[in-house]
Amino acid sequence: MLSMSGQRYTFDFLVLGSGVAGLSYALRVAEHGTVAIVTKKESAESNTNYAQGGIAAVMSLEDSYEQHIEDTLVAGAGLCDREIVEIVVREGPQRIRELMALGAEFTRQNGQLHLGREGGHTSNRIVHAADATGREVERALLARVRAHPNISIFEYHYAIDLITEHHLGQHVSRLRPDVHCFGAYVLDERNDVVKTFLARVTLLATGGSGQVYLHTTNPAIATGDGVAMAYRAKARVANMEFVQFHPTSLAVPAADSFLISEAVRGEGARLYNLAGERFMPAYDPRAELAPRDIVARAIDDQLKQRGEPHVLLDISHRPAEFVREHFPTIYQTCLGFGIDITREPIPVVPAAHYQCGGVQTDAWGRTSIQGLFACGEVACTGLHGANRLASNSLLEALVFGHRAIEPSVAYAREHAIETAVPDWDDSGTQRPQEWVLVSHNRDELRRVMWDYVGIVRSSLRLERAFRRTHLLYEETEDFYRRARVSPGLCELRNMIAVAYLIIRSAQMRRESRGLHYMLDYPEPNPAERRPTLV
Ligand code: FAD
Ligand code: SIN
Repeated sequence: MLSMSGQRYTFDFLVLGSGVAGLSYALRVAEHGTVAIVTKKESAESNTNYAQGGIAAVMSLEDSYEQHIEDTLVAGAGLCDREIVEIVVREGPQRIRELMALGAEFTRQNGQLHLGREGGHTSNRIVHAADATGREVERALLARVRAHPNISIFEYHYAIDLITEHHLGQHVSRLRPDVHCFGAYVLDERNDVVKTFLARVTLLATGGSGQVYLHTTNPAIATGDGVAMAYRAKARVANMEFVQFHPTSLAVPAADSFLISEAVRGEGARLYNLAGERFMPAYDPRAELAPRDIVARAIDDQLKQRGEPHVLLDISHRPAEFVREHFPTIYQTCLGFGIDITREPIPVVPAAHYQCGGVQTDAWGRTSIQGLFACGEVACTGLHGANRLASNSLLEALVFGHRAIEPSVAYAREHAIETAVPDWDDSGTQRPQEWVLVSHNRDELRRVMWDYVGIVRSSLRLERAFRRTHLLYEETEDFYRRARVSPGLCELRNMIAVAYLIIRSAQMRRESRGLHYMLDYPEPNPAERRPTLV
């Protein structure tokens, strides 16, 4: 028998994740108590760090809240929560000004913020730092967080599970309204020991789940851990069928689905098939600037109809200097693969990009579990509905990273640390003998999701995906019960849980809406116009 448990930590606030959501919340809540940020890799490694296009917000007199609200509602295809949309749009500009006051530097023109354009937006409203906005946001926030005396960062610490009454030996169910979160069990990856982090309030800010798909713009950390942990803890999870596929990732195998920002289309790039035909106007009057679901489906349709491996995105008609200045990261990365985007088109294909569903929260970031809050991509606030409008994600994380402070502080004042929590129990587990199972099952899961639960779905494909995923689930759970925990094994378990939630939610929605397109139910059905809850 191995024992790898020990060490208990107590903080007022426990933050799981160090992307824009976790960092912006931590900075504010640290004014009210001690904060631990637990993050599974280096602090900066997050989806946030790779964000290119920018942050959508009404920052110009030529724009209006009403327009941004309307664009968000149109993209969301009837499923957005209007109250949440209004909150996010109206509070967004102030959050961006605060971010700038913290030191974030965004691209300017003639002294004013340069506002870019992306699909689905009827106005120029994307605040950005050239084509590396996320890196700048992450840099500015991390610098402040590192300097804050109340905040401790635990890098290479992997959150395994949330601690609730279940760990005190009580029965916990999704119907029970008084489940509380007391913190999390966390694997210290470098010392191979599971630590118990106890806190009055826990924030889930673990980001998305793009890695569940074979092709994704997301980095390796995006394995859906937060949704899976919350689901196991019996929190409410909503709208998981709405997976956003970005239309344009670089179609070069070694490029690992590197994103070609929508801002490139915002600056006039056009899409062509390999016969040189510009195809988008035939699919939507907004052409290349239609919302993402429409552009991704149009590309998918072209690839399937024509049997071609990719389509082409061309910005080479714009002056070379302009392209290099606005898209330095994209220009350099493509050049590294032998493609000079100032002179030739870029081969692109869609890739899984963003999880619109997640842990259900109210307008203050509260989940259905008391003492557990969720912000950022892991959360489903009601902003995105059936499809996220471009660059509304960093915005949502900033707004809810702020809104969750007041109720968190109030909750922390009224609740003591629960000390009766036992240490992690790893009795009966052994060093695993069949590591190949983890990598094999991970690869198989990602392929099944790509082939059967992708841009275009059908009842038959979903049923097949469910059967295959269930086999992977049974095998992995059996392995997990006997094996000592490791990040790889926990991620696989979480990815299977997220895949299950996506498939089950997709099966529950018998219509096509936003990002969820079903061949056998090709139209929206007004009777299905409600969130999917699991
Ligand atoms: P993340 O930034 O992903 O942070 C999650 C954190 O949780 C990470 O630190 C991770 O290591 C940690 N974590 C995860 N699991 C665990 C665990 N088990 N234990 C401990 N730590 C854990 N959105 C926009 O609005 N505009 C854009 O221009 C834009 N461009 C994008 C470009 C790319 C290539 C990608 C991938 C996404 C883009 N998005 C964009 C989406 C946006 O970046 C994300 O939705 C947003 O950054 C999510 O922030 P977050 O804080 O919720 O999660
Ligand atoms: C992009 O730059 O195209 C990504 C923007 C987003 O995901 O919101």
